[in-house]
Amino acid sequence: MNDEVACTHCGDTGFVIVVDARGASRARPCACRRASPEATAGIDGILDAARVPKRYRDCEFDNFDAWGEHAFALANAKALAVRYAEEYPLSDRGLMFMGPPGVGKTHLAVATLRRLLTVKAVPCLFCDVQDLLRQLQATFDQKSGLTQLELLQPVLTTEVVLLDDLGGRQFSPWLEETLAHIVTTRYNDRKATLVTTNYLDEAPDRRTPTLEDRIGIRVRSRLHEMCHLVLVRATDFRSAVKRADHHRMPERVTPRREGA
Ligand SMILES: Nc1ncnc2c1ncn2[C@@H]1O[C@H](COP(=O)(O)OP(=O)(O)O)[C@@H](O)[C@H]1O
Ligand SMILES: [Mg+2]
Repeated sequence: MNDEVACTHCGDTGFVIVVDARGASRARPCACRRASPEATAGIDGILDAARVPKRYRDCEFDNFDAWGEHAFALANAKALAVRYAEEYPLSDRGLMFMGPPGVGKTHLAVATLRRLLTVKAVPCLFCDVQDLLRQLQATFDQKSGLTQLELLQPVLTTEVVLLDDLGGRQFSPWLEETLAHIVTTRYNDRKATLVTTNYLDEAPDRRTPTLEDRIGIRVRSRLHEMCHLVLVRATDFRSAVKRADHHRMPERVTPRREGA
C-alpha cells in the first residue's frame, strides 16, 4: 500500500493503459500530466523547455520525406520512430539512429521527441553531446559558472533524453568515463535514451573509425542493450536539395506500417 501516491488514476506513473476496439493496449498520458505547466505552455514553450535548438524546431514526421533511391530505407526508419512514439512507454528501450551525415537522423529523433512531448506530455531533453562535453570540460578550467552536477543532472534524470551526434569527438578515457556514467545511470533507472550517430558498427573501409572506436566498447555494448537500432541509409539531404526541389521529387513513398 502506498499512501504517498498523488494521482489515483495512474499511481503517479503519468500514464494509463487503454485497450482499443481491436484489443491492443496503448499507453495514454494521464490527465495529471496534461495539467502540467509545460503542457499549457504552447509548442514553443514545450520545445524551449526540452532545449530543442532553433535549427530543428520544425522537424516533424509529417515533413520527413522518403525520397530518392533510398526511399524505402527512409520510410522504414520513419515508421519505426512513429511506432516507437505511439507505443511509448511500453518498452523501456530507446532508439539509436545510425547513418552517414545529412540523412535526417536528427530530424527523425527530434520528430520523435516532439511527438512524445506534445501527444504524451513526456518530459524530454535534447542534448548536443559535443556541447555537453565542452561545457563539462570548461568546469575543470573554471570557465563555466555551472558545476558538473548542474550540467549533468538534467541529462541523467529527464524521462527521455536525445543524445545527438554521439561519437563526434576523438576517443579518450575521460570521454569514455563521462559517457559511461550517463548511459549507465539512465539504464539503471530504466529511462529511455535516443541517440544519433554518424558512426557505424562496421566501417565502410579500414581508415574510417567505427562507433566503438569513438566511444569505447563499454558504452557501445551498453547502448546495444538500451536501444533499438534504426539504420538510416540515404544520401545527404542537404546536398541533394541544393540540386533539386525535393518537394517535387516523384519517388516519395508512404511509410510501411510495422508488421505489414
Ligand atoms: N528525408 C528528409 N525529409 C525532409 N528533410 C530532411 C530529410 N533528411 C534530412 N532533412 C533535413 O536536412 C537537414 C539535415 O538533416 P539532419 O537530420 O540534421 O541530418 P543528420 O542528423 O543525419 O546529419 C535538416 O534540416 C533536416 O530537416
Ligand atoms: Mg544530426
